[in-house]
Amino acid sequence: MARYSEEILDEIRTRLDIVAVISEYVPLKKGGKNFKGLCPFHHEKTPSFMVDEERQIFHCFGCGEGGNIFTFIMKMEKLNFPEAIKMLAQKAGVSLPVSEKQNSKNIQEKELIYRLNEIAADYYQKNLFLTQGKSALDYLLKRGFSKEIINKFELGYALPGFEHLVNVFLSKKITPAGLFKAGLASKSTKTNKTIDYFRNRIIFPIFNLQGNIIAFGGRVLDDKLPKYINSPETLVYQKSKNLYGFFQAKKSIRKQNQVIVMEGYTDVLMAHQFGVDNAVASLGTALTVQQISFVKRFADEMIVAFDADTAGQSATLRSLSLIKKAGIKVRVISLPANSDPADILLKKGKQFFINLIERALPLIDYKLKILIQQFNPATTEGKVSIIRELFQDLSAIDSNIELNNEVKKLAERLRLTEDSILKDLNRYKKGDRQLPRISTDSLVESTHINAEKILIGSMLQKKDQLEKILSELNVEDFSIPEHQEIISVIINLKKKGERISVQKVMDLIENPQIINLLSQIILKDLISLDSAALERSIRAIKTYNLTLELNTIKSEIEKDEKNKKEVTPAMLQKYQNILQKIKNMA
Ligand code: CTP
Ligand code: MN
Repeated sequence: MARYSEEILDEIRTRLDIVAVISEYVPLKKGGKNFKGLCPFHHEKTPSFMVDEERQIFHCFGCGEGGNIFTFIMKMEKLNFPEAIKMLAQKAGVSLPVSEKQNSKNIQEKELIYRLNEIAADYYQKNLFLTQGKSALDYLLKRGFSKEIINKFELGYALPGFEHLVNVFLSKKITPAGLFKAGLASKSTKTNKTIDYFRNRIIFPIFNLQGNIIAFGGRVLDDKLPKYINSPETLVYQKSKNLYGFFQAKKSIRKQNQVIVMEGYTDVLMAHQFGVDNAVASLGTALTVQQISFVKRFADEMIVAFDADTAGQSATLRSLSLIKKAGIKVRVISLPANSDPADILLKKGKQFFINLIERALPLIDYKLKILIQQFNPATTEGKVSIIRELFQDLSAIDSNIELNNEVKKLAERLRLTEDSILKDLNRYKKGDRQLPRISTDSLVESTHINAEKILIGSMLQKKDQLEKILSELNVEDFSIPEHQEIISVIINLKKKGERISVQKVMDLIENPQIINLLSQIILKDLISLDSAALERSIRAIKTYNLTLELNTIKSEIEKDEKNKKEVTPAMLQKYQNILQKIKNMA
């Protein structure tokens, strides 16, 4: 989040030109509409790094890094946002309003939040052992969590009801203002009362490296949705910068010089319970650059153990190249279908899991395994697609011995000669992109994802299209969290009546991967020029969502049929209705 006002940022932006700034690091040449150069963020021999002067954005189509002038300096100089602003402000001759007061106020406020979180965590923790908390404790025990692990991670329970925690604080004469800052309470939109943020949920406190509680996750006790809600981002909590369990795992991570990254709270708990105590969680998303560089201070190897579903798989793929780029060794655990680490540990025990760690695959082998599921390695077309996908990783290998090894493995697996792979690889390295390159993104990319990108691009460049799209679709209609975040930022700006621009949206997005995505959308000119094309994209998204809905109902019907349960006419009717809607879309 921008800590400087948008005016200051704009001031810097108007005084500096992205082409001039980047040229100090990378020689750029005008080619067509954009400037081109060799990417400073990965090794390449043919330029795929583009700078768009008009829109003041850069993007590398080789490695996917992108953003605006601020993100460029952050990445290039390895600075955080405020530091990058400071550097550019100096260059631009813009003076920044710095006040010591602001600083010490920040520290005080952070300490207040820690204190309130501590009080809340104590309270939640006690609830778990009261009669009213029995259902929650029973739930945890039934899922196989030991009392020891429940205590070690200070799990708790937020009772059903709206004002429990608020009252605890009232009795301590703590005013709601602090609770809002800590994200522990919110204002009810209906009654305008101050109400507890977490209600009837198991509470997982999230600690920082020093052991302060910075946020909470809350899980329902049944299969209601959403399964989890998490604290909003606060002065002390930024989702993209923290890893769940790191505080508890720190010692073991150092000792073993290895960290295991999982997806969920429950995975980490179960891992620690079974003695795999170097496990942490990314909390359901792909890893961020900040998380990886943080881990790098503690260990040289990272084992990725994401859920064995498609979401987990694509989060893994997205994380991998980042980890590799950060210069940390990485291997990936392949879990049995439809399972997560917690399931496996409970079902098969510690030794089985340790074996999985030992057999974890290095980057290229893991990618190959996934690619073989995506493309048919029996056909020439399939082989070419698979090899092409791996070129970037192969060309990043410095050692000839290692490269020859990888190529040999590939040749055997794909029944190709080593020579033909090496020849193509050399052509690739020289910049020959004759064959259509399919980026790793496109493994999960399909019509609706592309349609979403087009809509995002259009919204940011044409006001009337923005109105049209927002009148037809909601945030939730967009299928991936990255797109949802971009849309939310746009909607928020619109609500505040602010002018919407790519630059402003980028300033408000914290996650560098989302910024990369956005610069890609803009530089690829993913915008629909006419209203018919726009309509097509909107329809593609609606159709996709309806199809998801249809599939859910279909599997419910099939489940009922399997269980010899009568399928209700209402259900069948619903099925027919959605089917009709889909047909009408076509
Ligand atoms: N998550 C979230 N919000 C959701 C769903 C998931 O924040 N609505 C995050 C949580 O941090 C969660 C992680 O994503 O721990 C992984 O999600 P999932 O695999 O669904 O949950 P598990 O942790 O495996 O929980 P459980 O074992 O209870 O199903
Ligand atoms: Mn899970």
